[in-house]
Amino acid sequence: MKRVFLETYGCQMNVADSELMAGVLERAGMELVDTPADADAVILNTCAIREHAELRVIGRLGEFAHLKLSKPDLIVGVAGCMAQHLRSKLLPKKKRVLDLVVGPDGYRDLPNLLRQAANVPTAEIRLDRDETYGDLEPKRAPGVRAWVTVQRGCDKFCTYCVVPYTRGRERSLPMADLIRQVEHASEQGFCEIVFLGQTVNSYHDGDHDFADLLRATNEVPGIVRIRYTSPHPSDLSERLIAAMAECEKVMPHMHLPLQSGSDAVLSAMNRTYSIAEYDALLSRLRAAIPHIAVTTDMIVGFPGESDADFEASMAYMRQARFDSAFLFKYSARPDTRAYKTAETVSEEEKGRRLTVMIDQQHQISGEHNDAWVGREAEVLIEGISHGDESQLHGKTREFKTVVVANDGTPAGSLKRVRVTGATTMTLFAEALDAPRREALVTIGG
Ligand code: 5AD
Ligand code: SF4
Repeated sequence: MKRVFLETYGCQMNVADSELMAGVLERAGMELVDTPADADAVILNTCAIREHAELRVIGRLGEFAHLKLSKPDLIVGVAGCMAQHLRSKLLPKKKRVLDLVVGPDGYRDLPNLLRQAANVPTAEIRLDRDETYGDLEPKRAPGVRAWVTVQRGCDKFCTYCVVPYTRGRERSLPMADLIRQVEHASEQGFCEIVFLGQTVNSYHDGDHDFADLLRATNEVPGIVRIRYTSPHPSDLSERLIAAMAECEKVMPHMHLPLQSGSDAVLSAMNRTYSIAEYDALLSRLRAAIPHIAVTTDMIVGFPGESDADFEASMAYMRQARFDSAFLFKYSARPDTRAYKTAETVSEEEKGRRLTVMIDQQHQISGEHNDAWVGREAEVLIEGISHGDESQLHGKTREFKTVVVANDGTPAGSLKRVRVTGATTMTLFAEALDAPRREALVTIGG
């Protein structure tokens, strides 16, 4: 058992968990490979948030069943939220293909689990109230950005959401471990830190809260930008807003999931805030951090969502004018409280609501981006555009994607640009500073 192929589905948290697994495997003398054909074992790091996510993995397992015909010794493992969600049901159901099921708290022992699975089908699906992996160094993918998980699990129990069941109780990493991770990432050449957690702003370590973590990170040399995702509106403190406003490295950008614009639906979702409260928060953010870009998540077709509830979501989105939004059709997830409630919105109607909402948000996102035309921006260059060597791409402080002519500026450099054009997804810009031949920092990885 030497070579492992790791494939990641779902959110940034899973991307970070895969980097953690990669670190664990390499320290055990295993090698990560780029294709299943070269591997002794494949691990799918999975998501369970919507049914669609699980169906994709089931489809992928079908492909591995086929591969096993020519590679009968191949070990196939499912890790992550879907593993935890389906628990031991998954092994007998996928008997022909699956050898290992490991939940989000079982990664420390992954090398042994893989060896064991070579002999007998193995499931490690215990949730551990204390496991944070704070002491384990992840193997980070190269790039300008390092993902740093600050907290695992979730205690919010939104009624539609499977995460509290798949990732267990909320726990924070010690702040000293996190600062050490940030310093190490900086030494490796990463210049942007993205803190991750299911409700990242409920982070706490003794007397220290998330605002303290941002302030301490702001002092780490070599780090030029700090972001985080996703905060929960109910835990967004004045201390955090003040830290964002005062720390020059913390970017004016926040993904603040709203989920619905109707108080009745928010209450049924157990979101613990009203639209008036969310809106007051948004006003305070926008007053404290001028030009902050705010993005959100919305769900359409939650059980009981009436036409009027949906229209309330549409109206609030027009009022709030989010820079962009991730929009989802409600997907009933076993184990959750909402799963026990009868669905009231047909698939067809969910689809209609989603389309209307996407159209409206496209319009608003387009207007936001159009407003950038003629303005100056600071871009952190990430590299050469995929498929076009004549262009560089990067992100503004507000996390907007910018494309600018390739003048040889290396990834990891900050570049001043003027925006000359925009689509809903991308800003096009011209450079304002002379080409820089050396990166401010080297590229990590
Ligand atoms: N159905 C649809 N969307 C969901 N989300 C979470 N659970 C569900 C579900 N059961 C969405 C929420 C959350 C984002 C990560 O996924 O909008 O913020
Ligand atoms: Fe799920 Fe709600 Fe926790 Fe987010 S805050 S992970 S939506 S339960």
